[in-house]
Amino acid sequence: MTAALNNKNILLGVSGGIAAYKSAEIVRRLQDLGATVRVVMTDGACEFITPLTLQALSGYPVHRQLLDEQAEAGMGHIELARWADLLLIAPATADIIAELAQGSAANLLTAVALATPAQVAVAPAMNQQMWAHAASQANIAALTERGVAVLGPDQGLQACGDVGPGRLLAPERIAAACCQLFSRGALQGVRVVITAGPTREAIDPVRYISNHSSGKMGYALAAAAVEAGASVTLISGPVDLPTPARAQRVDVESALQMHRAALEHAADCELFIAAAAVADYRPANCAEQKIKKQGEQMALALVKNPDIVAAVTTAFPQLCAIGFAAETEQLEQYARGKLAAKGLTAIVANNVGRSDIGFNSDDNEVTVYTSERSLTFDKRGKGQLARDLIDHFAQLLAAR
Ligand code: C5P
Repeated sequence: MTAALNNKNILLGVSGGIAAYKSAEIVRRLQDLGATVRVVMTDGACEFITPLTLQALSGYPVHRQLLDEQAEAGMGHIELARWADLLLIAPATADIIAELAQGSAANLLTAVALATPAQVAVAPAMNQQMWAHAASQANIAALTERGVAVLGPDQGLQACGDVGPGRLLAPERIAAACCQLFSRGALQGVRVVITAGPTREAIDPVRYISNHSSGKMGYALAAAAVEAGASVTLISGPVDLPTPARAQRVDVESALQMHRAALEHAADCELFIAAAAVADYRPANCAEQKIKKQGEQMALALVKNPDIVAAVTTAFPQLCAIGFAAETEQLEQYARGKLAAKGLTAIVANNVGRSDIGFNSDDNEVTVYTSERSLTFDKRGKGQLARDLIDHFAQLLAAR
């Protein structure tokens, strides 16, 4: 982790609680990792630790006042807000958290928090009862919802003698969490739509045509894309899987429903991943009543389903579209044929003839073809494969 924060500007906001004395140590730990640190203090913070201490440690004057002619003539609050790659508020008192949740700009720190385009992180520190209060929890939930990273709090003995959650996270853990904030995000802010799972094509009210797709690959891709910072819409056929945290799931059953949902959601995305196993055909008519047994044979008339990913690439040719090809033979030839026919940026091909990988298995081995290149990802768990594929898709998206 050495120098993991090289070239990073971290604006440390210190608010007024007893844990403010630990901010000196936080400055040091961030600097150890290569960060340049400037400090903003609230009036309350100055009651617990002197600005001189933090000025000496950071090597920069400490910023304190919003309405300060001299400060605004130097590095004003907007410039400070723009300078920061990360605004870290540590310790964050119950009061400063409430002000942030309100969007108040009453002091320099809250004004900078409103004005900064950078990631904001808060490390709460307060009495355990104050932390547990519904108001504090609602404020934290509001901040989390807006993308503010919440670091801690820790558990244990508090300055007031209470024991419980509310202690400031240790400075080295705060610094490590800051590294993580910078290291995530190959798809930061990218909107991704993923289709996953099988479709069900109704024959009558109780029967349908479907396939063995588990949805595991699409769901793993959705989780990996969220982890990489994307905002993810997962259009899912019927599967038995929990929704990945922070993904928006849209449930569908038939190919026609998936087609409609895909066109609607692809309209404002940058990356479309078609991992669903869509039924190629559907019954020409869905009987209104359960079909009764008749003779020894029965014929079912089928009609072709629309190709969902091809419809998406036709409607939105600017987006980066990834398809999957499950084949039992001539992998490259069939995959490249689909790459061209469906207007894809890349296609992920796997051999479903092998019993140890693919459809219902936890492992997969795939080759990704683009019009110029191919890249093989050797056999690995679907979770790891999904993370590796997402990194690769992020590169393909960036190269467009
Ligand atoms: O043609 P084939 O079904 O092998 O193509 C597989 C790829 O095309 C997958 O990415 C799948 O999600 C997508 N597909 C689709 N709509 C269909 C059939 C396949 O989006 N009707």
